[in-house]
Amino acid sequence: MGKTIIVSNRLPVSLRHKNGKFEFKPSAGGLATGLGSIYKEGENIWIGWPGNDVEDPEQRAEIIIELHELKMAPVFLTREDIEQFYEGFSNETLWPAFHYFTQNINYDEHHWEAYVRVNKMFCDAILKKADPDDTIWVHDYQLLLLPQMLREKLPNATIAFFQHIPFPSYEVVRMLPWRHEILTGMCGADLIGFHTYDDMRHFLSAVGRIMGLSNESGYIQAENRLINVDSFPMGIDYDKFAKSAKSKKTQTIAKKFLELLGDQKLLLSIDRLDYSKGIPKRIKAFDRFLEENPEYHGKVSMIMVVVPSRDKVRSYQRLKEEIDTLVGRINSDYSTLNWVPIHYFYRSFPFEELSAFYAMSDIALVTPLRDGMNLVCKEFVASKVDKKGVLILSEMAGASKELQDAILVNPNNNKGVAEAIKQAITMTEKEQRARIVSMQETIQRYDVFQWVKVFMDRLQYVKQKQLDLQ
Ligand code: UDP
Ligand code: G6P
Repeated sequence: MGKTIIVSNRLPVSLRHKNGKFEFKPSAGGLATGLGSIYKEGENIWIGWPGNDVEDPEQRAEIIIELHELKMAPVFLTREDIEQFYEGFSNETLWPAFHYFTQNINYDEHHWEAYVRVNKMFCDAILKKADPDDTIWVHDYQLLLLPQMLREKLPNATIAFFQHIPFPSYEVVRMLPWRHEILTGMCGADLIGFHTYDDMRHFLSAVGRIMGLSNESGYIQAENRLINVDSFPMGIDYDKFAKSAKSKKTQTIAKKFLELLGDQKLLLSIDRLDYSKGIPKRIKAFDRFLEENPEYHGKVSMIMVVVPSRDKVRSYQRLKEEIDTLVGRINSDYSTLNWVPIHYFYRSFPFEELSAFYAMSDIALVTPLRDGMNLVCKEFVASKVDKKGVLILSEMAGASKELQDAILVNPNNNKGVAEAIKQAITMTEKEQRARIVSMQETIQRYDVFQWVKVFMDRLQYVKQKQLDLQ
C-alpha cells in the first residue's frame, strides 16, 4: 500500500502576514478541522493552497520547508488566481449554485478559464509527489476537474473524490454553462462521496441527464471504468472535543467566562461569515423570542461567533453589514446596564476557548439555510459531558439526517425558530439528557476516523471490483 495524498484547495493551516513576516494559523471550516486529525499518519501528505499570496521566491522556499515539516506541500496561487479561481469561480459561481442561491451566481468565462488553469496547477503539483501505488483523495468544489485531469495522466491510479458541500438538483446544475465539463471532471474518480443520500441522488440524476450515463445501485459504468457513488456522512474527532470539555484548562476558561456573564441561559451561535448559514434570520428569530417573552429579558443572552471568511467577495461584505446592523439594533433596543442580549465576535477563537463556549452554553442555535454537513452542531453535542444542553438544528443541514434528537427547525420559519428557543430554554434536564445521550452515541460511533475507514475500505473494494471485471 502506498501513501495517501490528500488534496484540497485550503490546507489545514493558513498563512497570515505579520510585521513583514508570515505565520501559520489553523484554518477554520469543516474540511480542514475534520480531516486535521487524520492526515498525519504514515507517509501521508496534504497538498493545497496555504492561503494568501506569496510572490517572493525566497519566502516561497521558506514556506515549502516549513510545510514539509508539517507533512504538507503548497500550491501557490497568484493574486489573479485568488481573484478569479478562488473568489471568482469557486465562491461566486459554484458556492452559490450548490447552496441554491441561484440569484447570486456569477457566470464569468474568465473565472471559468482560471478554474481550469488552477485545477491543472494542482494536477501538476500532485504528479510531482505521486507514486504509482498511492491513493489520491481530492476534496471539495474548488477542485471538481482534478479527478479527470489526474486520470488522463495516471490511468490506473486510485483516485477518490469527496464533496463537502451540498450537490444540488439537476435543475440547478443545468444552469451552469460548464455542467458537462464539471461532471466529467468528477467522474475521473473511482469513488465519489457525498455527505447525504439526497446529494448522491442529485449527482446521479445530473450524470444521467447531462452525460447520458445510467447507474445501478450507485455504480456508473463509464467508458472503461466502474465508478461508485455513495453517501458518507462526515464525523468529528469526538474524543478530542469530549476530552477537552473535561480538561482543567477548558473548565478554567469556561468558569472565567461564566463569571463575567453572570447568571444567564446561554445560546451559542458559531459559523464562518456565510449567507448559507442563515445568520440574519437567526438573529431575527432571537429578536422575536425577546419581543414575545419579556420575562426572559436579562436572563438569556446569545454568544455569536462569526469567523471572517471570503471577505473580498461582495455578497459576503454585504452580509457582514447586514449582521452588524441587526446586532446593533437589537442590542440598542434591549440592553440594560448589566445585560446585553447578543455578545457578538467577528473573529476566530483558539480551540480551548471554542471548547469552553461549547461546554458552557445551554443551547446551540445552528440554523443554516443550506449546509453540506455542519460540524459545529456535532462539536457542541460531543462537548456536553454533563449531558445537559439542547441543540436546535436546521433541517437544511446534512447533520439533521443523523441528529434526529435535536429540535429540528425550518430556518425560514421565524415563528418556529422563536418557539424552538422557548422550548429549549424550558426543556427539563431529563429530556435534555435523553436527547444528548442519544445524539452522542451516534456521533461517537461514527467519528471522523470511522468515516475515513469506511470511505477507504469502499475505495479498495471498488478497485478490486474493477479488476475483477477486466
Ligand atoms: N471553527 C474554528 N474556529 C473558530 C470557529 C469555528 O476553527 O473560531 C471551526 C469549527 O470548530 C468547525 C468549523 O470551523 O470545525 C466549521 O465547520 P462547519 O462544518 O460547521 O462549517 P463550514 O465552515 O465548513 O461551512
Ligand atoms: C467549507 C468548504 C471548504 C472551505 C471552508 C472554508 O467548509 O467546504 O472547502 O475550505 O468552507 O472556506 P475558505 O474559502 O476559507 O477555504
